[in-house]
Amino acid sequence: MNESETNSQGSGGATEARRATGSGGATDTGSATEAGGATPARGTADTAATEAAVRTVELWKTFPAEPEPVHAVRGVSLEIMPGEFAAFAGPSGCGKTTFLNMLGGLTRATKGEVWIAGRELSTLSEPELARLRLNSIGFVFQAYNLLPVLTALENAEFTLLLQGMDADERQKRVSELFDRVGMAGLEDRRPGRLSGGQQQRVAVVRAVVGEPALVLADEPTANLDSHASEELLAMMEDLNHQTGTTFIFATHDPMVMDRAHRMIRLVDGQVVSDEVRAGSSRGA
Ligand SMILES: Nc1ncnc2c1ncn2[C@@H]1O[C@H](COP(=O)(O)OP(=O)(O)O)[C@@H](O)[C@H]1O
Ligand SMILES: [Mg+2]
Repeated sequence: MNESETNSQGSGGATEARRATGSGGATDTGSATEAGGATPARGTADTAATEAAVRTVELWKTFPAEPEPVHAVRGVSLEIMPGEFAAFAGPSGCGKTTFLNMLGGLTRATKGEVWIAGRELSTLSEPELARLRLNSIGFVFQAYNLLPVLTALENAEFTLLLQGMDADERQKRVSELFDRVGMAGLEDRRPGRLSGGQQQRVAVVRAVVGEPALVLADEPTANLDSHASEELLAMMEDLNHQTGTTFIFATHDPMVMDRAHRMIRLVDGQVVSDEVRAGSSRGA
């Protein structure tokens, strides 16, 4: 807990550096707002040591459909603490993707609240939401979603580019992570010349390199064989241990469920069980 908080402060430190380097033009306004947003949240974390990384309150998502609307998520209230390695599991169609997309501000809730980094997402404008996504949330998708014309390094540094970091610092950060995850030497390859497992590693590096408080991974192993899945999960677990970054998965892969330190099962858009496992790094 303390460690994760230290780490989230650590990413604050990196944010300072980023602000210092990316001090040009439009980024300034964003950074100032972000700093303003982050400071009270950090203050709150100091006084209330248990501030959640994610909190939902009676969260609903209803899609209009014929003959009747689909209630994909039905009144979910929960908290995920900083540093957790948690999975939402359940059969296809139970609402995992919809729920994760609401946490990430990719889909607006129909009703209820989502709190991330001390802010309730429905109160944010689209630009504010975009800034929160850029600075506080990393995404990993089933299909990797790398840009085919960019090299592995260029794909991985994309978040930092958007954050306004200068090229040397971007390269340094990406290279360090590539070393750490066994991708050293593959920086100049385009996605088409990488295996699925390697592409997903690049996607994970892209997700964590900006030191977000939170990484959301939707079925990250669905296109990988079991060996590549195992390696990818070990890599994410190491990053979780080393950086304190919160990881939240949506999955129906038993291998991911085995690794998760907390498993939240959804059925028909509702939580039916929520179990913290032995081996959880929280509090360790
Ligand atoms: N954009 C959409 N429009 C209408 N229905 C949707 C939409 N997205 C998801 N749904 C429905 O919501 C339910 C939950 O879907 P989803 O969140 O994708 O589940 P999961 O990721 O667990 O497979 C399903 O019944 C699905 O058909
Ligand atoms: Mg899904």
